[in-house]
Amino acid sequence: MKYGRIPRTDLEVSCLGLGTWVFGGDVWGGAEEKESLNAIQTALDQGINFIDTAPIYGDGLAESIVGKAIKAKPGKVILATKCGLRRRGNGTIKLDLSPVAIRGEIDESLRRLGVEQIDLYQCHWPDPNTPIEMTLEALLQIQAEGKIRHIGVSNFDRGLLEKASASAKIVTLQRHYSLLERTVEAEVLTYCRQNAVGFLAYGSLGGGILSGKYRSPKRFNPEDARNFFYKFYEGEGFKRTQKLIQRLGAFGHPIHEAALNWVRQQPGVTSVLVGCRNSEQVKANLLALDWDLSAQELDRISSREKEKKLSGVELGKPRQ
Ligand SMILES: NC(=O)c1ccc[n+]([C@@H]2O[C@H](COP(=O)([O-])OP(=O)(O)OC[C@H]3O[C@@H](n4cnc5c(N)ncnc54)[C@H](OP(=O)(O)O)[C@@H]3O)[C@@H](O)[C@H]2O)c1
Repeated sequence: MKYGRIPRTDLEVSCLGLGTWVFGGDVWGGAEEKESLNAIQTALDQGINFIDTAPIYGDGLAESIVGKAIKAKPGKVILATKCGLRRRGNGTIKLDLSPVAIRGEIDESLRRLGVEQIDLYQCHWPDPNTPIEMTLEALLQIQAEGKIRHIGVSNFDRGLLEKASASAKIVTLQRHYSLLERTVEAEVLTYCRQNAVGFLAYGSLGGGILSGKYRSPKRFNPEDARNFFYKFYEGEGFKRTQKLIQRLGAFGHPIHEAALNWVRQQPGVTSVLVGCRNSEQVKANLLALDWDLSAQELDRISSREKEKKLSGVELGKPRQ
């Protein structure tokens, strides 16, 4: 396993972290708890020490599963969870980073995870109705109480990250980053590199399609996250993905390994959070660490894909 330090912290995290959105099941076509627990066990056995979760994943289910899996392993896992997204009664999602909401959420997360302190607590999405200073004031109090060690943000643009950093020490930014979604490269990733903010990539397999397993367009159930979040499964997005997959296949390794390595090897990326439904996917994804893309290969993939930037494939937003 390769590890890297989150800048300005003592957190040495594995360069592949375990993403747990799929464990929630609700927007990923279901999930088996036993498989989720096995996936965590395999990840930890193989040296992954970094787990990313959130209360919204299965309305607490993913956090509870993580809590169950790490119960007998105090201090062995670096836990990252989030605040600020809440499901309303009608199933839509509310962005809420108000101090009252966070106060309610933190204790629930600690209870579900079965820990007294969360290593990295992240604002999940920007909340246009709460000034970020108010959110951070609440988080700093919670930090002073010892319930969280470090503060991170997710899905913030550069301006909001800078603003947040003026009020508190923000140690990480989590953003969608893959060969299919490279918006962060324009300025966010450079900003993180230059200002010692750890960068956590998500969606680096495009929700699974960058494994190469879908040979024809795929339509999921209407509530499936991949319909609105990863828009690479139909139409122009699908065609572009298939061409990319063909090119990634030329490196003589499984496609998902090349896709993960391309993100992992980008300067400034601290950890690639990869969602794994089961032990087999954990093991398959970890094989990516046995090799690296050469500098020429990285350049070749990067410039080809930049030329082919597809208009009209937009980053999904949570439904409100
Ligand atoms: N901050 C945010 O707003 C945000 C947003 C999205 C994600 N995240 C975090 O980042 C993590 C990673 O993102 P993600 O899970 O959405 O997307 P991802 O890592 O691109 O895709 C994960 C999915 O791909 C499939 N998969 C994984 N490995 C595979 C393999 N070797 N072969 C074939 N299929 C494979 C699995 O789904 P199937 O088995 O169903 O195909 C898995 O659930 C999340 O779990 C979550 O922790 C954060």
